[in-house]
Amino acid sequence: MNCLVTGVAGFIGSHLAEKLVADGHKVIGIDCFTDYYPRAIKQKNLANLIKQDSQNSQFIFIENNLTSLDYSEVLKNIDCIFHLAAQPGVRASWGQGFSSYLENNIFATQILLEAVKEKGDLIKFVYASSSSVYGEKYSKKGKPLKENALPKPVSPYGVTKLAGEHLCYLYYKSYSIPTIVLRYFTVYGPRQRPDMALHKFINAALARRELIIYGDGEQTRDFTYVADIVEGTISAAQRGRPGEVYNLGGGVQLSVNQIISFIEELVGYKVEKIYVENQKGDVRHTLADIKKANQHFGYVPTYDFKTGLAKQIEWQKNIMGL
Ligand code: NAD
Ligand code: UGA
Repeated sequence: MNCLVTGVAGFIGSHLAEKLVADGHKVIGIDCFTDYYPRAIKQKNLANLIKQDSQNSQFIFIENNLTSLDYSEVLKNIDCIFHLAAQPGVRASWGQGFSSYLENNIFATQILLEAVKEKGDLIKFVYASSSSVYGEKYSKKGKPLKENALPKPVSPYGVTKLAGEHLCYLYYKSYSIPTIVLRYFTVYGPRQRPDMALHKFINAALARRELIIYGDGEQTRDFTYVADIVEGTISAAQRGRPGEVYNLGGGVQLSVNQIISFIEELVGYKVEKIYVENQKGDVRHTLADIKKANQHFGYVPTYDFKTGLAKQIEWQKNIMGL
């Protein structure tokens, strides 16, 4: 396949592009290095791919914003689009920050879909959505979230990711673009974004600093290892059904307090914990029902949390020179 990966310098996009190239596909990757976290980190994410770029033509990188790109050349011969570019992060989406969510999550998605709408030969358009679209209503401990629950996001970020889902659906209905929506559940592993809980907790534990817990730490997440997300995303592109929405989760629900205990065990150090107030927009519990993804394209997460966590700790140790 000839693939286009947006957000290719990001955490998940860089892993996805590497796997596509390793599987023999050709990839054009686009990223504009938004300043949500340092450009240097994103350039490091791209390092393996850029090596590919200079050695052969299997990977081409374009630094540009989706809202200002000239799509006429880029889209030629593309079979499959993986649209991962976005302004992520739940807690930063309030207040002034919201304009970046509007621009990168809604406007950029609409521009891309407009550019693609007359392209009759696209095999799949995969949109990276989020468990944040569900909100609180169905979020109960031990109760998996199903795709047919009515989404009611509780963060501005969730609202913009849901708007992106709706845009995908209406371009599918009106222009037959074969869009598929994947709802990723809290992804972790090497290259995880520095604003995310595990990244912050591991850094704190390795530096023997205290860490901050929002609320009582009994909130839970379905943590999904990045290689499972990548496998699920590629399988969805190959065998998922246009117009459909699928959850991609890790299948196990852990509380923030539990993951901190795992980190302490692996690092061999008990961290000081400071409990502060809950953050607005954070849902209490998430857990994915992954039956639909399993039935339609054979999705099975294979990483248990401790194995994935050990890999992320190794990666962060390397960065810190430990
Ligand atoms: P990330 O920030 O590491 O990667 C996103 C990349 O998109 C960044 O490199 C950024 O520079 C780029 N980008 C943003 N707007 C752009 C634009 N207008 N034009 C070009 N490039 C642009 O984030 P991530 O954690 O890898 O997330 C990837 C996708 O998965 C996002 O759509 C996010 O909403 C979704 N998601 C992530 C998680 C998670 O746990 N990480 C969970 C659910 C959904
Ligand atoms: C993550 C990503 O950041 C979103 O981009 C993504 O869309 C979302 O997953 C998703 O799955 O939909 P979140 O679940 O908030 O969002 O991920 P983390 O940053 O890993 O936070 C997990 C939990 O740890 C939250 O309850 C948060 O409040 C808590 N936390 C986070 C802390 O207690 N302390 C911190 O320093 C950071």
